[in-house]
Amino acid sequence: MRSTKDNSKDSGTAGGTDTEVEFEVAEPRPASAGEVLLRVENLDVSFGTVHAVRGVSYEVRRGETLGIVGESGSGKSVTSMAVMGLLPKNAKITGSVRFQGDELLGTSDKVMSAVRGKKVAMIFQDPMTSLDPVFKVGAQIVETLRVHDKSMSRQAARARALELLNIVGIPNAEARIDNFPHEFSGGMRQRVVIAIAMANNPDVIIADEPTTALDVTVQATVLEAMKAAQRETGAALILITHDLGIIAGVAERVLVMYAGKAVEIGSVDDVFYRPRMPYTVGLLNSLPRLDVDEKVRLTPIIGTPPSLQHLPAGCPFSPRCPLHKPECSAAEPDLVQVDGHDKHWAACIRAHELEGQDRYEAGEIFETTSIDDGLPADALLLSGATGPDDEPDAVTAAGSAPSSEAADPGRHSADVGRGSDSSQIRPSGDEAGGMP
Ligand SMILES: Nc1ncnc2c1ncn2[C@@H]1O[C@H](COP(=O)(O)OP(=O)(O)OP(=O)(O)O)[C@@H](O)[C@H]1O
Ligand code: SF4
Ligand SMILES: [Mg+2]
Repeated sequence: MRSTKDNSKDSGTAGGTDTEVEFEVAEPRPASAGEVLLRVENLDVSFGTVHAVRGVSYEVRRGETLGIVGESGSGKSVTSMAVMGLLPKNAKITGSVRFQGDELLGTSDKVMSAVRGKKVAMIFQDPMTSLDPVFKVGAQIVETLRVHDKSMSRQAARARALELLNIVGIPNAEARIDNFPHEFSGGMRQRVVIAIAMANNPDVIIADEPTTALDVTVQATVLEAMKAAQRETGAALILITHDLGIIAGVAERVLVMYAGKAVEIGSVDDVFYRPRMPYTVGLLNSLPRLDVDEKVRLTPIIGTPPSLQHLPAGCPFSPRCPLHKPECSAAEPDLVQVDGHDKHWAACIRAHELEGQDRYEAGEIFETTSIDDGLPADALLLSGATGPDDEPDAVTAAGSAPSSEAADPGRHSADVGRGSDSSQIRPSGDEAGGMP
């Protein structure tokens, strides 16, 4: 485990193949002490028999960045769309979403329209979702400003629009303000969307895969634009991505989702270097490490996420988990505090057995295979493969055939050091209950 900061080692190309963002995670970033802006509690979303989000809770404070990561179909977008009140009518939503203490779930469209854009802004993966192709970009920013502030003159709004374009790094903004969206590159369009999102100084910005559709060379500039927007507005930023490198680069805390549930949450430092949920361990060890000198074998997570219509009994990760044992199928584990503090939570009955070990040692719980060497990060299901409901028997790693080991988790079982005796496992109910 690294305890000292060494920038020469800790910076690298983030998140595997498709992002070139320098990142450092060795220096712990303290959690924000700002006020809690958004508190999501026990959020549950179903579409008929598809149970897309299952009891997700988190809070985000002013000025902090919370990363949400998880495989395709794990419920990241549905969680955020529920917060924004943007889910279709057939979605059954329960739980609580409070913004500065006020409940948003169940409020009228009128109330939600006032919240959206002004209080909570959203940035989608495809900038053209948010931009109107027939209006000049400056006019669209002016419109956004004046919708929420009717007293603002056109002239003042245009001046502010210009300022916003400069903040997000549009070169020659004075001239580009009168361009149409199609005259901008994808990265510049996304920066315009960020300018629109920050136009009304929102308290919370939710960005759902904001850089995934972009060329590698512009991802870093868009991320920088988002951080500039956050600095300017002081907003809390919720950043949804499949790219762990991006999370490492910009977030203070991270929430890992699996099968519609939060399975680990904590500071980036804790989750990246002291993961306590085997799924997180698997995610981290599936990625190439550029910040260590020695050659580290990659360890793909074999198998696919479960169908949200037919979850396995107990822990939903159990069919893929090398630490699975019979007790895991008895009941779905709650999030429990780990490492003796209330900032790091993991949903695994064996989480405490992983305490005291760092990422490299924990990586040993996943068997390496002959396909591990040189496995590209985009072989991960995380990198945009179809979700569990679309392709129930799809292959996760490196295009290999589903392993018989996936169907027989016992074959992976490994001793993780401090014993596998179930008597060492504390009941989750004793520790669960607080807000992660
Ligand atoms: N409108 C809908 N009707 C029915 N099912 C839906 C709807 N929207 C999402 N789902 C299902 O909910 C589950 C979670 O979807 P979600 O879009 O939140 O995944 P995600 O984690 O954002 O994945 P990705 O990384 O691919 O964006 C999926 O199984 C998806 O098929
Ligand atoms: S050890 Fe058991 S509870 Fe923990 S992730 Fe594996 S299957 Fe789930
Ligand atoms: Mg999504």
